Amino acid sequence: MTAASDGLEGVVAAATVLSEVDGAAGRLIVRGRSLDELAGRTTFEQMIGLLFDGFYADLPADIPAALGQARAEVFAEVAALDTGLLDRTPVEAMRALTARLADGDDAATAFRLIAAPAVFTAAVVRGQAGLAPVAPDPALRHAADTLRMLRGAPASPAEADALDTYLVTVADHGLNASTFAARVVASTRAGLTSAVLAGISALKGPLHGGAPGPIIEMLDEIGEPSNARAWIEAALARGDRLMGFGHRIYKVRDPRADALKTAVRWLDARQGRLEFAEAVEAAALQILREHKPERSLQTNVEFYTALLLEALDFPPPAFTCVFAMGRVAGWLAHAREQLAGGRLIRPASVYVGPLPRQAA
Ligand code: ACO
Repeated sequence: MTAASDGLEGVVAAATVLSEVDGAAGRLIVRGRSLDELAGRTTFEQMIGLLFDGFYADLPADIPAALGQARAEVFAEVAALDTGLLDRTPVEAMRALTARLADGDDAATAFRLIAAPAVFTAAVVRGQAGLAPVAPDPALRHAADTLRMLRGAPASPAEADALDTYLVTVADHGLNASTFAARVVASTRAGLTSAVLAGISALKGPLHGGAPGPIIEMLDEIGEPSNARAWIEAALARGDRLMGFGHRIYKVRDPRADALKTAVRWLDARQGRLEFAEAVEAAALQILREHKPERSLQTNVEFYTALLLEALDFPPPAFTCVFAMGRVAGWLAHAREQLAGGRLIRPASVYVGPLPRQAA
């Protein structure tokens, strides 16, 4: 009997030209470029061009203009944001609005799907605060317009650059759970909207993209560095996991953590917040070493994501939506790569239940 691989760990389920995650070296490569070359030096629009190159025959020459137009198109769906949806979590409301977009396989569908998490999240966050939605400005860069739609006022260049750095940093990351979910759906030829909805659904779990919201709760409950050890030890004693630490692939520090920490420094964040977070991080790493000496549990991308998105005024319940704003580019590139060369993804299972009486 073949044994099942727990969590598919170590199973190679796709060949990709999109990105490589080297967990031993702590290195991320996207289409031949290291994260160091991309984060802080590339706009999200350029990242879309890099990821989509060769996968969309109808890729527009002017990606910023196409994305701006897509934001304006999807804004029409914001009219469907009723009180029922505003009672849901931001990611559930954003996903419901995204589900209103038609399925398709072309670049126009892909651009609407990239626009959707940004436009819908801004409208949901404002709606939950009792504020009217702000229409997109198609002439702005995606990151700057996202912050403007969220706040109703222009973002500073440093804030727009920080969000751009975040979107670029999280845009693609090998065969993570949400990208795998998107590829499985794409492999059935269901269409790009269906693939993105699968990605959002997988992303929202606390073991994947749902981690950064609870990180703010953790920091707020700890309050000051001297409380960190007692708080963390009590959490581990309860059997809780520390959000923002550990990773299936990285056994050293996640390189995205430092790319985002750099972006946090560009912002006029709350006085002393970064230093406080660094103190909590140091305590957590020390205690995780004592608690699980046989594991290498290191800081992952979500820890400094939480600080960055907090400094950009996103409310913690909406952090997963912001992750989706960046990762959607990767889902769409993987979906097209799957369509271009892949077969239906249909693994096997091993039956371990009872046999019918006659066969036993
Ligand atoms: N805190 C405490 N213990 C942990 C943590 C953590 N953050 N992460 C792993 N462990 C422990 C587990 O309890 C387990 O212990 P055991 O061997 O005694 O059972 C062991 O380390 C291995 O954990 P697994 O869940 O088997 O490792 P896996 O590779 O499946 O998990 C994961 C990776 C899900 C990210 C895990 O480290 C975790 O839950 N981290 C916290 C949530 C988080 O930060 N998620 C964001 C990840 S990054 C991203 O998806 C974008």
